[in-house]
Amino acid sequence: MYPIVKKSMLTPTMAMMHVKAPWVARKAQPGQFIIVRLGEEGERIPLSLSGWDREEGTLRLIIQAVGATTRQMVALKEGDAFTDLVGPLGQRAHGLGTGTLVVIGGGYGAGAVMPTAREAKAEGRRVIGIVGARSKDLVLLEDEMRSVCDDVLITTDDGSHGIKGLVTDALKRVIDREPVGAVLAIGPVPMMRAVSALTRPHQIKTMVSLNAVMVDGTGMCGGCRVTVGGQTKFACFDGPDFDGHQVDYDELALRQRMYRPLEALALDHLCHIEKAMP
Ligand SMILES: Cc1cc2nc3c(=O)[nH]c(=O)nc-3n(C[C@H](O)[C@H](O)[C@H](O)COP(=O)(O)OP(=O)(O)OC[C@H]3O[C@@H](n4cnc5c(N)ncnc54)[C@H](O)[C@@H]3O)c2cc1C
Ligand code: FES
Repeated sequence: MYPIVKKSMLTPTMAMMHVKAPWVARKAQPGQFIIVRLGEEGERIPLSLSGWDREEGTLRLIIQAVGATTRQMVALKEGDAFTDLVGPLGQRAHGLGTGTLVVIGGGYGAGAVMPTAREAKAEGRRVIGIVGARSKDLVLLEDEMRSVCDDVLITTDDGSHGIKGLVTDALKRVIDREPVGAVLAIGPVPMMRAVSALTRPHQIKTMVSLNAVMVDGTGMCGGCRVTVGGQTKFACFDGPDFDGHQVDYDELALRQRMYRPLEALALDHLCHIEKAMP
């Protein structure tokens, strides 16, 4: 069992958890992820590492409730535990060149970019953070981002905090004002696609973390197949980071929608259980 030693809610649907898993914490590298399971029959859920403490032997996870299983996970309390946890999985963050690095996080991506941002800063690079959210109350980890980066731009869809608009509006400002060596974008597929479209004409190296549907996380099942530069890759093993200019986003979005009817059934089932609870 993998106990949750600390938990807080970042937004009404997003939890930050510190989970005890000493040997994973010992080996973790920026860009890597884990797969966790709740219960013996539970679904396998891939989660990015947003940090770790090698001394305490803990991992920091940020979990967004989107479907049946992640809703159950977000409802866990301190002292509860994950049944299984495997990792660290995937390749360490790579391909980010030299010069100023812009890290862009949407949703849980604000946490997922943090280890890479910290490492780049420690290497002496100029690091600019961009965090996007729908509104002010949904902006994640702003203070932490400010403590890691040389400059931080916040965007909100409704203009309640920072720049009114999307992360691409903030990125455009940065590109217009200074040379950018590379961009790392982690968040929803449409966000990563839009960032890649913006940087392509400027020939700015752009890496994205592909949240393809995963099962085993080891390159054996083929569930996370993606096409990058016309070649078949496994997001869990070859990635999750890939060159954003080479990703077939249409195929990725299509494959993510493949299990929608089953996901709706699972959510409906959970809602019935929740209603029946005292
Ligand atoms: C490498 C990687 C890192 C991730 N990191 C995080 C993270 O740090 N925090 C976080 O909240 N989420 C993260 N995700 C996404 C998270 O795994 C999915 O939201 C979760 O699996 C959905 O499970 P569910 O049963 O609650 O929802 P479901 O009802 O099963 O699905 C809801 C939606 O989530 C997506 N999804 C479903 N199953 C998977 C799967 N196995 N892998 C990826 N996406 C899926 C689909 O788009 C689906 O429409 C990551 C995914 C990957 C691949
Ligand atoms: S999840 Fe099975 S091959 Fe990647």
